[in-house]
Amino acid sequence: MKISPSILAADMLDLKTTLRAMDPSAIDFIHMDVMDGHFVPQLSFGERITELAAQHTKIPLDVHLMVDQPELEGPKYFKLKPHNITFHLEATNFPVRLAREIKSAGILPGIALNPGTSVSLLENVLDEIGMVLIMSVEPGFYGQKFLELAIPKVEQLKKMIGSRDILIEADGGIGEGNIGRLARAGVDIVVAGSSCFAPPDSPSDRARALKSAALNG
Ligand code: DX5
Ligand code: ZN
Repeated sequence: MKISPSILAADMLDLKTTLRAMDPSAIDFIHMDVMDGHFVPQLSFGERITELAAQHTKIPLDVHLMVDQPELEGPKYFKLKPHNITFHLEATNFPVRLAREIKSAGILPGIALNPGTSVSLLENVLDEIGMVLIMSVEPGFYGQKFLELAIPKVEQLKKMIGSRDILIEADGGIGEGNIGRLARAGVDIVVAGSSCFAPPDSPSDRARALKSAALNG
């Protein structure tokens, strides 16, 4: 199981210290929650903060765009060469074109689904993408309770993916208590906000604990 800590749950004014302390052997990606105040109620940060953050870590960025019209916002991140750019299916009428643009920029295209959106809607776009993000909370805030409906969605998606090379990521309310079940359902990457930024433990130690719970939980 790979771990992608969401910096939304970190001390955003001390990000430099947080990022520099992250151990790449424990933390696989850094999850950047971009929120526009329209698609979700909150504003978080955009490409400038993401660019500054990238200067303080070599860990690949996992960009999660919670924005309307991601076809306008997504290309702003191309020059930062993140590992993936993930946009919401609910937020665009042009998922194929955007996925192809992201891929042409040498970045893995990902599509995220809100809890109420059926994975069957991905049927015609699966060949265009390299990652699916299953939201296990309604997007917009960290620290929410995990929605159990995410587990059967992951199982269904895993079957639909078949032999395709597509990563499954889950996001929201994940900790030691449920990461094992997500691993068994077929999740490759887990986003961890509040369960990773839980002082006095360091995010790297928390990521190690989550990985061991994924194996044994
Ligand atoms: C929710 C964000 C998540 C969130 C995760 O809108 O997409 O990435 O920060 O935080 P936790 O793990 O606390 O639910
Ligand atoms: Zn997220």
